[in-house]
Amino acid sequence: MFSPRGPSLRELSVQAFSSVEHGYDLLAPKFDHTPFRTAADVLDAMLEVLTGLGPFGDGLDVCCGTGAGVGVLESVCRGSVTGVDFSAGMLAQARTAHPDATWVRADARALPFARHRVDLAVTFGALGHFLPSERPAVFAGVHRTLRPGGLFTFAMEAPPPRSDAWYWATLGFDAGMRIRNAVWRPPFVMYYRDCRLPAVSADLTAAGFTVTSAELDGAGRYRDGSNRYLLVLARKLAHENGRSGS
Ligand SMILES: C[S@@+](CC[C@H](N)C(=O)[O-])C[C@H]1O[C@@H](n2cnc3c(N)ncnc32)[C@H](O)[C@@H]1O
Repeated sequence: MFSPRGPSLRELSVQAFSSVEHGYDLLAPKFDHTPFRTAADVLDAMLEVLTGLGPFGDGLDVCCGTGAGVGVLESVCRGSVTGVDFSAGMLAQARTAHPDATWVRADARALPFARHRVDLAVTFGALGHFLPSERPAVFAGVHRTLRPGGLFTFAMEAPPPRSDAWYWATLGFDAGMRIRNAVWRPPFVMYYRDCRLPAVSADLTAAGFTVTSAELDGAGRYRDGSNRYLLVLARKLAHENGRSGS
């Protein structure tokens, strides 16, 4: 699962019993050698989609980590590219990899940006870190930060079929995480199965987005041949009609 340059089992265990923020600080120097970094085929598939929809002006990667999504934004945005994450360690790695981007340390549940600042927002591999009750704040912040007509897009895992080992792996992982969080503080929130399209789509709609989704081709398949990822496109209305908080 991990390359020889990835974290040891001991390092992973220490990370798993830390907070999300501190856990990623610890993991940061080796993060790019773990499967937690968004895979190249997912990034490439998103790049292809966004190239067809772009070009865009200013771009924002929410929960940017070491900058996987910033690389995509740098290809499709003609304006500024900003990454936001609450882990100082992850941001330090990202800054080294993408010196031309802007890096902001902040909690995605309270994005600190001015209204109407970017045209495109993305997020990769991070929505499972938010409890369902926390998603509305994240989506409201992204909506506020986007200019009218702006796009928030991400790839999310389609539910694995029961016949696939990943179905049982995510079931076991989430169960283990719930036990861990029941008996240990600080919590480490990462639940695969809480983050499914109907609920995410409803939260995006409630935040003011118009949501469409499709299967994302070219980003990997489950053993039964079905696409592993869904593409979510959440568009902010071009005219807000006085909607508050937008
Ligand atoms: C699995 S990593 C994904 C990193 C990168 N987007 C990628 O695809 O490789 C999740 C990232 O989300 C960040 N994160 C989690 N919760 C966050 C929060 N509430 N605010 C800001 N960043 C957060 C973590 O620090 C970490 O860098």
